[in-house]
Amino acid sequence: MRLVMLGAPGAGKGTQADRLAERYGVPHVSTGDLFRAHFRQNTELGQTARRYMQEGHLVPDDVTEAMVWQRLGEADAHRGYILDGFPRTLPQAEHFDAALSAANWRLSGVFHVEVDRAVLQSRLTGRRSCPECKATYHVQFDPPSVADVCDQCGARLVQREDDRPETVAKRLTVYHTETEPLVQYYARQGLLRTIDGNQSMDEVTASLTEQLALIGLAHD
Ligand code: AP5
Repeated sequence: MRLVMLGAPGAGKGTQADRLAERYGVPHVSTGDLFRAHFRQNTELGQTARRYMQEGHLVPDDVTEAMVWQRLGEADAHRGYILDGFPRTLPQAEHFDAALSAANWRLSGVFHVEVDRAVLQSRLTGRRSCPECKATYHVQFDPPSVADVCDQCGARLVQREDDRPETVAKRLTVYHTETEPLVQYYARQGLLRTIDGNQSMDEVTASLTEQLALIGLAHD
């Protein structure tokens, strides 16, 4: 299973990739999470990435790709993976295709999770994340049992620094110019499956599972 989750910031890519990864036993590889792990560890790559992320810009392709190739070379990714947030530009997609072909692999599918812009804004500004175990919540749509406390590990929840309203607006614009062209790119390759991401989390998971069955990948 080699899947790409494509969609705007806040579309629910991470939420759904987590669920699919658990169900199908493949890693959820999120470039945003990898960058955030680097800056928590105070690496040079993390410091570089943070400067771009805080402003809502994309991290340069060469920095991103080197990090992704390294992650996909790890043992747990040999059976497959669910990519969330990569590729995100046409050059990243073209370089990824070339790397896959060189290894004699191909993508199983690309899921485009489509969500209305007004919904995206409320999802991002209401998101809360656990800095310890990385669980994600939403103050309205998926609240923790005790306000601001992680159900899984008891840590205090935080708001991502790029979820401030002014940064959210920039991220949505960057998505439109840099990432949306990938919808056509993957449609031309016959890999694209569009999912209505405005539905509830469980309904989106059900739609994804249906689509996986159509490409011969779903199992219980
Ligand atoms: P990244 O961390 O990838 O952020 P993103 O793509 O902007 O996506 P998000 O994590 O914001 O949203 P999501 O779609 O995963 O939604 P989620 O499931 O959390 O990237 C951050 C930054 O890193 C980028 O801006 C860029 O700077 C850099 N970067 C990353 N990849 C890069 C690349 N390849 N190249 C260059 N730079 C890169 O859900 C959102 C909220 O909604 C949550 O609170 C959730 O609980 C809730 N929710 C989810 N689904 C539903 C639903 N169906 N109904 C109701 N609520 C829902």
